[in-house]
Amino acid sequence: MGGAVSAGEDNDDLIDNLKEAYYIRSDLVEKAFRAIDRADYYLDEYRDNAYKDLAWRHGNIHLSAPCIYSEVMEALDLHPGLSFLNLGSGTGYLSTMVGLILGPFGVNHGIELHADVIDYAYQKLDSFIKTSDSFDKFEFCEPSFVAGNCLDIPLESRQYDRVYCGAGVQKEHEDYMRNLLKIGGILVMPLEEKLTKITRTGTSTWETKKILSVSFAPLVLPKHGPNGKPKIVPLPRYEVRTLQELARICIRHTLRVTTDEKESQSRGRGSSFSYGPRFKRRRVHRRQCSIQVVDEVVDEEEEQEEEEEKETGELLRPQPAVNLLRERILGLPLPEPLKMYLLFYREK
Ligand SMILES: C[S@@+](CC[C@H](N)C(=O)[O-])C[C@H]1O[C@@H](n2cnc3c(N)ncnc32)[C@H](O)[C@@H]1O
Repeated sequence: MGGAVSAGEDNDDLIDNLKEAYYIRSDLVEKAFRAIDRADYYLDEYRDNAYKDLAWRHGNIHLSAPCIYSEVMEALDLHPGLSFLNLGSGTGYLSTMVGLILGPFGVNHGIELHADVIDYAYQKLDSFIKTSDSFDKFEFCEPSFVAGNCLDIPLESRQYDRVYCGAGVQKEHEDYMRNLLKIGGILVMPLEEKLTKITRTGTSTWETKKILSVSFAPLVLPKHGPNGKPKIVPLPRYEVRTLQELARICIRHTLRVTTDEKESQSRGRGSSFSYGPRFKRRRVHRRQCSIQVVDEVVDEEEEQEEEEEKETGELLRPQPAVNLLRERILGLPLPEPLKMYLLFYREK
């Protein structure tokens, strides 16, 4: 499934293509997609394929195509503070993007059948939090995953504002899925070869819209225990935040807002989202030539770009990103361990 848009040279290029083809339509979704490099969810040896609009499978690890995730993110109509349940949460790529929109007061839960995939998802999540340049630009709702079959959730479980199922739902499970929703909530799932959006409009009323033809591997059916009874899979726990965590969220929020304000004032612009200076993206054309020749070409190009920048006043070359939030926290007159806590002990 996929191949709807041309391959990108990097993550930004892929997102440009998804936007151009109108798969990504809203700012929030675009920002979340740009913030997370799809290649980071691949095994290193397959990274080169990450910017193609194709699904990827390796053992139990499985990612859907970028055009599908774009449609899903748009259809979910996400806002800060909502609760989200991801059935078949896989690598955590989608859950992490969703977490950037839900913010710290949302709920971000996932259920995944394979325990090894949950380990993989937690490794990827840890690396995102510790090393990603994007982490400090957002207020994040960290996902939590549990292992189990998502068709074994107890019927009387909590309901969610948003639910996504990442594997094909059999028609007989449609009602089960719809009942996971709160009234007013939105469920997106592949059902009868169509990506389907269902909105719960009342206690026993739903509206259904078919979005796109898709082909998904079906949900794995539950295996019943030796006594013939279904196993029960409890949902991830709803964690109440400690006062210490709430203080960190508030301090980071205040610093981020005031940093953004100063940043946009100093640039004479409206709201600024990214901390690094903006620049016009320019395609890198691969050249087949020796290293010495490349060096000369690069020098010439740089000079030419400098000239153009002087003339137009527009930045053409990527500038190293500056993480102003990090700099501000490090500059606070606070004990070192407190600064590290405010920085989530991030490595960069
Ligand atoms: C296409 S992948 C979803 C990938 C995910 N969206 C991501 O961001 O990585 C589908 C996932 O559903 C899981 N799955 C299939 N049947 C399941 C079931 N009954 N319960 C829980 N997970 C299931 C698979 O193991 C697989 O990881």
